[in-house]
Parts: sequence; C-alpha cells; structure tokens
Amino acid sequence: MRALPLVALALLAACDCNKTDETAATTTPETPAAEPVQPIEPVEVSMDKVFLGRRLFHDPILSGDGTVSCATCHSLDHGGAEDRATSLGIREQVGPINSPTVLNAHYNFVQFWDGRATDLQDQAGGPVENPLEMGTTFTDVIPRIQADEWYAERFAAVYGSDDPITKENITDAIAEYERYLITPSPFDRYLRGETDAISEQARRGYQTFKDVGCPTCHLGMNLGGTMFQKMGLVENYFELRGGEITEADLGRFNVTGRDADRHFFKVPTLRNVAITGPWYHDGSQTDLGESVRLMGRLQLGQRLSDEQVADIVAFLVTLTGELPEHARLPDEEAPPSRAIPGAEGDAEPAAHGTTEAEG
Ligand code: HEC
Ligand code: HEC
Repeated sequence: MRALPLVALALLAACDCNKTDETAATTTPETPAAEPVQPIEPVEVSMDKVFLGRRLFHDPILSGDGTVSCATCHSLDHGGAEDRATSLGIREQVGPINSPTVLNAHYNFVQFWDGRATDLQDQAGGPVENPLEMGTTFTDVIPRIQADEWYAERFAAVYGSDDPITKENITDAIAEYERYLITPSPFDRYLRGETDAISEQARRGYQTFKDVGCPTCHLGMNLGGTMFQKMGLVENYFELRGGEITEADLGRFNVTGRDADRHFFKVPTLRNVAITGPWYHDGSQTDLGESVRLMGRLQLGQRLSDEQVADIVAFLVTLTGELPEHARLPDEEAPPSRAIPGAEGDAEPAAHGTTEAEG
C-alpha cells in the first residue's frame, strides 16, 4: 500500500518538533489520521521530463495512422477520461471498456481495471501497441519521433545524446507527466481543517458516505485505487444490467485465471468523478446519482434514500480538483497534423509533419 508511508510523512511534516510531547500528541477527531480519506499530496517530478511527456501525451504521432493520442481518450477537459461508454481507437474501432481517468493515477496501487500494469511507465507502453487503441509498435514510432526536431532536441537534453529516443525513455517521460497530474480539490482543504471549503450538504454527504460504508473500498488519498473488489458484492450486477457478459466484465480473472477473481476490478478513484462520466467499467451509467444509488445496493446491500444520494453527490462534486499550472499543452507546442494518408494497418513512417496544425 503506497498511501501509508505518505500519510506517515504528512503527519511527520505536520509535527512541530519543538513542541512538548504532550501538545504534539493532542489530536481531535478531525485530524487526517482519524479519516479514511487523506488529503492528496503533489509528487516531486522533473519538469523537463514533464514537458516532454506532456507533448507526447497530446501527440497522435504515437498512433498507427497518426490520428489518436493519449489525450483522445484521456481528455483534460473531461477529468482525464472520455465522454463515451467505451473507447474509440484508431480507424474508429470501439474498445471493450471505459477509459479511467489519468488524473491522480499515480496513487493507484496498480493500473488498468484489472491491474495488469504495475505502474504508470509499465502502463504507457500498452495503448501504443494495443491494436484497438493506437495500433502501432515502438519500432515504427521511434523513427517518426526522431524526425521531429522539437523531440530530437528535448530528448537529447533530458536523456543524453546517445540514442535518447527509446521506448524506455518515451514511457518514462509520459509517466512523469502523469505523475504531475495531481488535482487537489475543495475537499482536501476541508480535510485540512477549512470547514467552509465545502457546503453543508457536502459535509452531510461525506458523513453519509462514511456511515453507510463506502470507504470500505473507496479510501485513502485517491478514495480508491488501493484494492480489487467484486462488482456486485451483495447483489449480482451483471444480471441486473442484462446483456452478454463480455471478456472485459471478467475483470481481474483475465489476469489471474482464478475463479475467485471473476468480476473483480480495481476500485476506481472517486477524485474528479463528477466530471468523468459515463461511469463503471462498462460505461453503462450516465447519471452519477444512479451510480451512487446502485453502489449502495450492489456493494453494501443498502437502499439509499433520494436525500442520501443527493448529499453523497454533493460531496463527490467537492472532489473535482484543479489541474496543476502546466498541465495543458501550450498552443505553440501543438503537434502538426500527423495523419498518415492511406494507413491501413501498417503505418507508413516518415509521412508526418507536412501539414500545419489547424487552430
Ligand atoms: C483509444 C483510447 C485510449 C487511448 C488512445 C489511450 N488510452 Fe489509456 N486507457 C484507455 C482505456 C479503455 C483504459 C482502461 C483499459 C483497461 O483497464 O483494460 C485505459 C487505461 C489507462 C490508464 C490506467 C488508469 C487506471 O486507473 O487504471 C492510464 C494511466 C492510461 N490509460 C494512460 C494512457 C496513456 C499514457 C496513453 C497514451 C500513450 C493512453 N492511455 C492512450 C483508453 C485509451
Ligand atoms: C465493496 C467495495 C465497494 C463499496 C463498498 C463501494 N464501492 Fe463504489 N466501486 C467499487 C468498484 C469495484 C467499482 C467499479 C465497478 C465497475 O466499474 O464495474 C466502483 C465504482 C464506483 C463509482 C463509479 C466510478 C467510475 O469512475 O466509474 C462510483 C461513483 C462509486 N463507486 C461510488 C460509491 C459510493 C458512493 C459508495 C457507497 C454508497 C460505494 N461506491 C461503495 C467498489 C465499491
């Protein structure tokens, strides 16, 4: 569990060590330690790598036909996720599962709904070579990146002039950018003692969230991302939803092959959840209140009242955070059109960068 040492650090930092033991030990029920949720902490990053990763993240150069970037499915304007039930990759192929937010993903104990990637760098290689997403290979992508002057210069400056453009360094820079994408919210200010940072209804909602047991699963700095849990712990979700059970519905089972892991998913973060809909791994929910109500029923065996649902939603809205200052790609760094004419499966490298970006 990555969150624990950081919590310990936060507590150490909060300790004024000149105080006597007696005052230092004084706690109130409102200290972060008593809460299942902790305020989020920024991560120390190398800004040179962040700037490199930021452009890669927004650049369709990483896709087989030059039309899809990481940001296509993880839009900063949509809370780091996308406005679709399941993803649309190159050549308009519909993917099997909803795209989770990249914001604060650093604090997830593993990546992907089924946890098949151990960390952000490990994850970043996946979509590039996934035929339904970006559909190419690093062997194809590397020469295209080498041919772009901006990248050639920056990679050499950050990673040294001896063969700096490698899969390892590309994914390292993207992961560094993602580590930068931490979004503190009004709720963090509340947790740090600023009671008025959120409305009375949101405070009531947080209390209900705790009282009914949501933090059994949605806890820690990310209100999620610390464990796998069964979707439909108390009541069968897939019967209720109807339709075919897809491979994606099997969740963690796809990684371990163990029956006990069927329909287990990484508990998603609730940070920014109010703006990342549609919700659930299958993108089946278009209403946040209904997603909350269903959670109470499926995961806790609780019928939440309309008022409880509304209060919890008011609380969830306070988890919508602020992007860090340099998160967005400046206009002057917007990549030129990378579209590869006639790319049908095999990408033709070198045919990029000839058209000016529009807008
Ligand atoms: C075509 C859409 C698409 C593109 C392009 C795409 N992703 Fe994703 N991303 C997804 C989907 C869908 C998932 C969930 C897949 C799963 O869990 O099986 C995902 C998962 C992730 C996760 C894991 C988050 C979590 O909480 O588990 C991260 C991080 C991520 N993507 C980053 C990236 C990066 C970096 C790129 C570019 C190199 C990228 N994605 C490109 C759709 C996309
Ligand atoms: C037993 C563990 C567990 C409990 C308890 C639980 N959840 Fe969840 N929650 C999950 C899992 C697992 C998912 C992912 C399910 C899926 O996508 O199929 C999830 C998904 C969600 C989502 C959708 C997130 C997204 O990005 O799609 C919301 C909102 C949510 N939970 C809120 C709540 C609330 C509010 C409560 C309390 C009423 C609660 N959860 C209780 C495990 C739990």
